Amino acid sequence: MKIPKAWRLGIGEMHIVPATRHRSPSRRPPWIIILVSLVCLSLIGAYVFPPRRYAACYLFASSVCSPFKQWLPPVPARLLTDDEIASRVVIRDILNSHPIQPKNPKIAFMFLTPGPLPFEKLWEKFFLGHEGRYTIYIHASREKPEHLSPLFVDREIHSEKVVWGKISMVDAEKRLLANALEDADNQHFILLSDSCVPLHNFDYVFNYLMESNISFVDCFEDPGPHGTGRYSEHMLPEVEKKVWRKGAQWFTVKRQHAVLVLADSLYYSKFKFYCKPGMEGSRNCYSDEHYLPTLFNMVDPNGIANWSVTHVDWSEGKWHPKAYRAQDVSFELLKNITAIDESLHVTSDEKREIQRRPCFLNGSKRPCYLFARKFYPEALNNLMQYFSNYTSI
Ligand SMILES: *[C@@H]1O[C@H](CO)[C@@H](O)[C@H](O)[C@H]1NC(C)=O
Ligand SMILES: *[C@@H]1O[C@H](CO)[C@@H](O)[C@H](O)[C@H]1NC(C)=O
Ligand SMILES: *[C@@H]1O[C@H](CO)[C@@H](O)[C@H](O)[C@H]1NC(C)=O
Ligand SMILES: *[C@@H]1O[C@H](CO)[C@@H](O)[C@H](O)[C@H]1NC(C)=O
Ligand SMILES: *[C@@H]1O[C@H](CO)[C@@H](O)[C@H](O)[C@H]1NC(C)=O
Repeated sequence: MKIPKAWRLGIGEMHIVPATRHRSPSRRPPWIIILVSLVCLSLIGAYVFPPRRYAACYLFASSVCSPFKQWLPPVPARLLTDDEIASRVVIRDILNSHPIQPKNPKIAFMFLTPGPLPFEKLWEKFFLGHEGRYTIYIHASREKPEHLSPLFVDREIHSEKVVWGKISMVDAEKRLLANALEDADNQHFILLSDSCVPLHNFDYVFNYLMESNISFVDCFEDPGPHGTGRYSEHMLPEVEKKVWRKGAQWFTVKRQHAVLVLADSLYYSKFKFYCKPGMEGSRNCYSDEHYLPTLFNMVDPNGIANWSVTHVDWSEGKWHPKAYRAQDVSFELLKNITAIDESLHVTSDEKREIQRRPCFLNGSKRPCYLFARKFYPEALNNLMQYFSNYTSI
């Protein structure tokens, strides 16, 4: 029979079926010659072309080789350093782990502030009635705040001085994450500033975050001087220019990503040493705007939404975003912000390209924002007055 003979040659079914159908016994020898030639050719091909792919399979079990493994960043066309190999396996295992679902899931609200929190009373309105579903952490870097709400009393963690734009900012974020991770019930970790206010009621925020399996880390590519212009080649080989990203620091991360941030020391040290204000003369780099967007863009680009759930208005084109005074706060303003369902990024090159992306969650368009900044302390009374109305939209 023809088929057993073909099988012995080790050729797959696809080759056999058409061959057997048209072949006559008298033409068997030429076919065998062709098959043998094909095998030889493919052996030569295998020898010449795929060593890199084999290495990738062997070292990293990349998705090319195993569809069951989660995606890993593409293997760079160079030898990895020991630190990189170690870092990749740790990150891969964190991303592939299946987080335990606690009986009583909670959200960590992490306030990064120099001192007092002027909107404690507003937050109290937000939290009241939801005990056991949230935990508050405060990193007060300059002075211990006097509290206006009992919910905030004794919620300070150990803090260190924070200098704007320096790595100490990232260190404070990591300190907050570490403290909040101690509570195994915390599933999402929200970084907030003293000028942030809630845009929705607690249930809305809780469900929005719990139902999404991604982190909300702001991330976009800015080819201008305030984006890629801040990149330093000292970060090579681990951080290449093409993976460099920018984004506002006010993140919300799921537990897996919070662990990942604490586990990373390789990329963190690159930013610590080569992304700081006053680098190489006049060039400034701010780790808090680049470290997390770049890290997640490298290791889990599909695991982040690419927008922050904290709204800020840069439309005035100034060095600082718009800050709302008491008279700016109206029901209409808050209604407008909560209705936004497209994220907006503007590049810093001469093109000033505006990147608009719809906020998609679970395949459907959703309002982008849960919180907003920056509000002056004097806006408190107006916000309190409208809170029940605008959070029920
Ligand atoms: C996303 O889809 C899942 C499954 O269909 C559902 O349980 C969940 O509520 C959805 N989340 C959102 C934010 O709509
Ligand atoms: C999140 O869930 C959606 C829908 O269930 C799925 O398509 C997507 O791959 C998930 N994303 C991550 C990062 O797990
Ligand atoms: C975020 O942006 C990256 C590209 O920078 C993209 O690969 C990824 O799919 C985006 N994430 C989502 C959830 O769309
Ligand atoms: C709200 O949005 C409307 C429509 O875009 C705009 O005309 C109005 O000026 C906005 N109001 C405030 C207070 O931002
Ligand atoms: C809030 O809404 C209620 C009912 O819709 C209305 O009576 C009240 O005047 C509103 N309050 C403010 C401050 O707009």
